[in-house]
Amino acid sequence: MHPDCERVLLTEQQIAARVREAGDWLTARFAGRTPVAVCNLKGSVVFFADVLRAAKIDAEMDFMAVSSYGANAVSSGKPYVKRDLFSSVEGRDVLLVEDIVDTGRTLVTLREFFKERGAASVTVVALLDKPARRVVKAAADFVCFSVEDEFLVGYGLDYAERYRNLPYIGVLKRAVYEK
Ligand code: PRP
Repeated sequence: MHPDCERVLLTEQQIAARVREAGDWLTARFAGRTPVAVCNLKGSVVFFADVLRAAKIDAEMDFMAVSSYGANAVSSGKPYVKRDLFSSVEGRDVLLVEDIVDTGRTLVTLREFFKERGAASVTVVALLDKPARRVVKAAADFVCFSVEDEFLVGYGLDYAERYRNLPYIGVLKRAVYEK
């Protein structure tokens, strides 16, 4: 385990088993359709790659980035699109892949964003859900793990851009983010 973690919350094996179940769910949901799978960078990138390979579907891939922070780095509360999609989603079934639903603001903003762009449908699959942190009503259609409000890193999740490539999800030591 990385020395900055106090414990492993979800092992590689636990994640892989649940990602296979998410893949099966997507296989059934998108049978006969060709969704545009959207990776909301950066935290979702590892889950995105794994869950789409677990799903036996004919999906296209696209990428975007949303940030909660304005130019002066003060949290605006309202996320904005920092990097737009490469292609149009008009008339398409969108599959948004998220690493975590926290306050729920990103999810609400993105559902609205895809609707404004004319998406035919929006399905959200999330690796983690932290219901204790919610400030707006938001729910993914499939959640792999519901977790407590702890500082999690790994499998895409970062602290100051680090730890994203850990293959498991760990709880970061307080001393690391409080120093
Ligand atoms: C995280 C995560 C979600 C969002 C969830 O992204 O990837 O997109 O926050 O938070 P919310 O429910 O409170 O809106 P972050 O802004 O940390 O960027 P990153 O993915 O590049 O790490």
